Amino acid sequence: MNKKAILLAGGAGTRLYPLTKIVCKQLLPVYDKPMICYPLATLMLGGLREVLIISTPKDLPMLQDYLGDGSRLGIRIDYAAQPKPEGIAQAFLIGAKFLGDSGASLILGDNIFYGKLDFFREALALERGACIFGYQVRDPERYGVVEFGPDGRALSLEEKPKHPKSHFAIPGLYVYDNRVVEFCRDLRPSARGELEITDLNLVYLKQKGLHVKLLGRGMAWLDTGTQTSLLEAGNYIATIEHRQGLKIACLEEVAFRMGFINESELERIVDGLPKGEYQEYLQLVCAEGPTAYPPEPAA
Ligand code: G1P
Repeated sequence: MNKKAILLAGGAGTRLYPLTKIVCKQLLPVYDKPMICYPLATLMLGGLREVLIISTPKDLPMLQDYLGDGSRLGIRIDYAAQPKPEGIAQAFLIGAKFLGDSGASLILGDNIFYGKLDFFREALALERGACIFGYQVRDPERYGVVEFGPDGRALSLEEKPKHPKSHFAIPGLYVYDNRVVEFCRDLRPSARGELEITDLNLVYLKQKGLHVKLLGRGMAWLDTGTQTSLLEAGNYIATIEHRQGLKIACLEEVAFRMGFINESELERIVDGLPKGEYQEYLQLVCAEGPTAYPPEPAA
């Protein structure tokens, strides 16, 4: 149902000041690559090849300079500005033209997922409605929170509640059908002046069109919102990469293994890279061929 995606890389990143005085949050390093690689890799691993990146007018040129039009990765990247931080759901109004009559996935530029992504692919296959996810965290009050009834259905959704009704936070990855733009047009700004993603999800919940899937505890959903969580996310990525000798969210590798680019296209990329560990890694990937080690364990 769903082939287009929005990657929202907005916000001033005030909690990460002074790092974000120099570079936008989504380009800060998470171990060995910029943060935005992780959500973009998630979309690509879902098979999505048409992506709209939304960011502030100040940060857009830097993101554009790094990722370009996506053609070297066999995908298409468009860009649009969110002039003011007026909410996550505003992304669909900004992206209305890009989406046309398509449904849309949305991923937040500071969300890192590591593990088997079947839950996302299953959500993308839904014909109608919306799909969001639930993930157990220690501190749900920092997130959107979903409460489940005894039958396992979602009962309520609340944005950063003082007294959370469950431990299940809603990660920044959402899948919607093509009514999403129309629903966003009817949303009103919250008390903090934003079009809230939770209010959009509540519209789907009221219509009985909201699927909520729990992510298993074997899945990692990492946060990068504070100095400590950014460091922890970097350490996590470093630990896994050192253990396996495989990179997480190496965009060129993902594009190759997903069949978005072929061997000669990867070779050309490798030739153009500066000498170093990243280039050596991709040389190996290229020599092994696309099916040598798929980006996720087989089912
Ligand atoms: C946003 C959403 C929240 C969600 C979170 C995931 O919060 O409003 O519902 O749980 O992203 O990262 P923010 O990060 O903007 O505070």
